[in-house]
Order: sequence, then C-alpha cells, then structure tokens
Amino acid sequence: MAGKTYDLTPKDVKPVKTTYRRISTRFPVPESIPILENLRKYEPVSMSGQPPVVWDRAEGVQVYDKWGNMWLDWSSGVLVTSAGHGRQEIRQAVIAQVEHGLLHNYCFPSEMRARLAEKLVACAPDKLDKAFILTTGSEAVECALKLARTYAVQKHGWHKTVMVSFNRSFHGRTLGSQLAGGIPALKTWIREPRVVPVGAGEGGGWQERPERALADQFVQVPFPDGFRTEDTSFDLFERSLAEQGVDPNQVCGVITETYQGGGASFAPKEYMQQLARWCAEHDALLIFDEIQAGFGRTGTFWGFEHYDVVPDLMTLGKALSGSLPISAVVGRADVMNLYGPGEMTSTHTGNPVCAAAALASIDLIEKENLVENARAMGEVLQGELDKLRRKYPQVIGARHGRGLVAGLHMVKSGSKEPDGDLAFRVVANCARKGLLMFSPVGFGGGTVKVSPPLVIGEEAIMDGIAALDEAIAEAL
Ligand SMILES: Cc1ncc(COP(=O)(O)O)c(C=O)c1O
Repeated sequence: MAGKTYDLTPKDVKPVKTTYRRISTRFPVPESIPILENLRKYEPVSMSGQPPVVWDRAEGVQVYDKWGNMWLDWSSGVLVTSAGHGRQEIRQAVIAQVEHGLLHNYCFPSEMRARLAEKLVACAPDKLDKAFILTTGSEAVECALKLARTYAVQKHGWHKTVMVSFNRSFHGRTLGSQLAGGIPALKTWIREPRVVPVGAGEGGGWQERPERALADQFVQVPFPDGFRTEDTSFDLFERSLAEQGVDPNQVCGVITETYQGGGASFAPKEYMQQLARWCAEHDALLIFDEIQAGFGRTGTFWGFEHYDVVPDLMTLGKALSGSLPISAVVGRADVMNLYGPGEMTSTHTGNPVCAAAALASIDLIEKENLVENARAMGEVLQGELDKLRRKYPQVIGARHGRGLVAGLHMVKSGSKEPDGDLAFRVVANCARKGLLMFSPVGFGGGTVKVSPPLVIGEEAIMDGIAALDEAIAEAL
C-alpha cells in the first residue's frame, strides 16, 4: 500500500505563539486522540493521509482546534476557501437560503440556480455561453469528457474518440477522470480487456476488439513544465501522439489542468497557444480543468488568462463556493446543448444552498479584489519561496507556481529524483509549528504545496515562511 500516515503518539513540542500561529499543547493533542482513532477505525485507510489536526472551526487564514491551538492555513482545505474560511457573508447567504425554506430543487426551476448559471456565464469569456451546475469536480470532468466525445462522434463519426491529456495530471477519482489522469499508480484498478464476448451459449466466444479499447482511447503526452519535462516545444505533443499511433483526426478533445496541481506547474504560453490552434484545426475540443486555478488563485480570474487562450469547455469546482460542494461545466453553447431536455441531468444540480454560497463567495472575490491580492501577495510568496530554494539548493529542485499557489519540488540531494520522505517530514514539522499544509502531492509525493486563502496579507506570509524555513532545516 502506498501513501504515508502520521504517528498518533502525542509528543512534546516547542510552544509557538505568533499573531497567526499558536501551539500550546502536546502534538497530536492528547484529547484529540479518541477522535483521530475513531476516524481510523470507521473510515478507510485512504482518509488518514492528512496531518492529525482535528479542525473545530476556521476563520480567514486560520484553522482552530478545540484545545487552544491555532494554525496558519496554507491549504485552503485543498484550494477551496479562496475568500477565506468561514466568511460571515457566505454563512449569512447560506443561513438566509435555509431560512427561506428551499433546500433542494433538482432540475426543477429555481431562482437561485438561475442566478448562479447567469453569474458563471457572465464571469466566463465571451464564447462560453452555458453553465451546467453539478456537485463535485470529478463529476464536472466526467461531463466535459462526455460532451467532447459526443460532439466528435456526432459530427465526425466513431473514429474520433481519443481524449488526450497530460502525464502527471490529476482530474479526479472517478473512472473517466482517472482514465484522463496521467498518474499510472492511480489507474492500477482499471483494466480494459482487449477482447469482447460475442454471441451466447455454445456458439459464443471472444473476439478481438476492432476499435481502440476504451482505456486506449485516453492517451497521455508529456506536460511541458520545464523541470520534469525539459523539452517544452509543441513538437513534443505531436511527436508523442504519433509515437502512440494516434492520428490527429482521431482526437475528440484535449483536457489539461490549467496548471498541474501536483507541482503547481504551468506550461509556456506559446505551447498553450499552439495547442489551442491545433485543437481548432482538428476540431478537437480544448478543455481547461480550472477546478484548482479558477476564481483568482493564480492572480488572474481564470488561470488560462496567463496563456491568452480560451477553451471550448472549462470545469469548475473547489473555490466556486469556497465552502459547500458545488461544481460546474461552462462552455460553448453548441456543445453544451448536445443533449436534449432531461438527457443530461444530476440529482443535486444547482442545489440552492450551495448556489447561495457560491454567489456570496464570488461576490467577495470581486468586491474585495482578491484576484489582485493573489497577484500582489503571490509576488511576495513566490519571491520568499525562491529565497528558500536558494538557501536549500540541494533539496529544493524547483519552485513552481503563480499568484497564491506554489509547489516546492523536494528532491534527493543534488538530483531530480523526488524525495517524498523529506517532503512529508517538512509538512509534518510545519503542522507542529502551527503552519498547516496538506500532505505532499505530485510526482513521487515530492511537492510541498502552498495555497493559502486569497485574503492573506504580507505579514502572515512572512510568518509562514519563517515556520517553513525552520521545518525544512529540521527535516534535513
Ligand atoms: C484539477 C482538478 N480536477 C479535478 C479534481 C477533482 O475534484 P473533486 O475532488 O471535487 O472531485 C481536483 C481535485 O483535487 C483537481 O485538483
């Protein structure tokens, strides 16, 4: 079994007291152990991968437990709470909707869903005219994959079903989203037989599939991050497809995270522009997965603004509401309209309480200029992380990111080999020092990911950097 978990034995830690962090107990907190043990007893092991901090409440850039400790949060609860944790405006919007008396609407019309669909289209670039509101990011990705295939098959025929994505990409945990993902270790449960049953009874047998088997219709190419893939030319895209026996006319779509979440890695602008042109030439839909990047995280409202291109479809989630579960696909009307009335639905589509939270969160992001804050504070954060990289050049192989998302790529001394153990120790040390990050992600589990709420200020960034610096020194 891969993955690491945290020791639940309380240990003495040096007390911490700054404006943003306070640790005044042993860690993990002895009184929290029964809760942590219950979670380990009743939840699958897969859920035990985060630092043993029992969240009690969270506000702004801080997370609190019940025992007097306070963490500076650099996770945003996996890039969700962009407008800040527990914002009064979001809470009030949720309470108002609950008290108004509509908790669910399915696909029946409701004013709240109408308002959110209109808002999402208003925020999107011109050619993206329709919004389909769903619940989780993976669900939005599944829907985008389905729309791209449907579009290509209806318009061009069954030869055009290959979905191209990128090595090391992450698009969710469901079947389609993991087929599109580029992390082989996550796909070991998916095996597509290359033969299919034909006939029944005595005359039945097996026949080689004439067309590409479903799993083979998802093809990955290198992601030009400039670190793990040094060749950032668009030639590599075309060459990789050819090497895998894919004719460009077979491609129904290309899906990419706007930046790769696993490393906070961007592609060069020219590459993405060539990709967009290539997609247009071959009538393959370009899908940007904006589930992490959307709503200001990278210092622009949409992450793809850095590339100066517009996708045909985009998937949204996470910071869309900054709180309750809600996601969306926003895209070209001709694609979004491929299914007729009642043919593309979801039970919890546009849940009115979640939609109220989303409208309130987007409103905060706009009114408080959080996109601009992410840009300005991003310069401070990335600059400080670069200083750490220069301080520990042997073990921080690269610093990727823009705005308020960054990845420190921890490596085995002087090499490019990811050092997942070191990255894990850094995150564990940070938790003991009152700086909260989720466990390392990315290639070899080697990326320490930094993603604070977009309301963070310079003083809090410097306070977190001090803790991270100590944590790295101690981990070494
Ligand atoms: C880029 C990206 N796409 C899709 C997903 C899946 O979203 P969810 O966990 O809400 O299904 C994630 C989640 O981390 C993500 O980062």
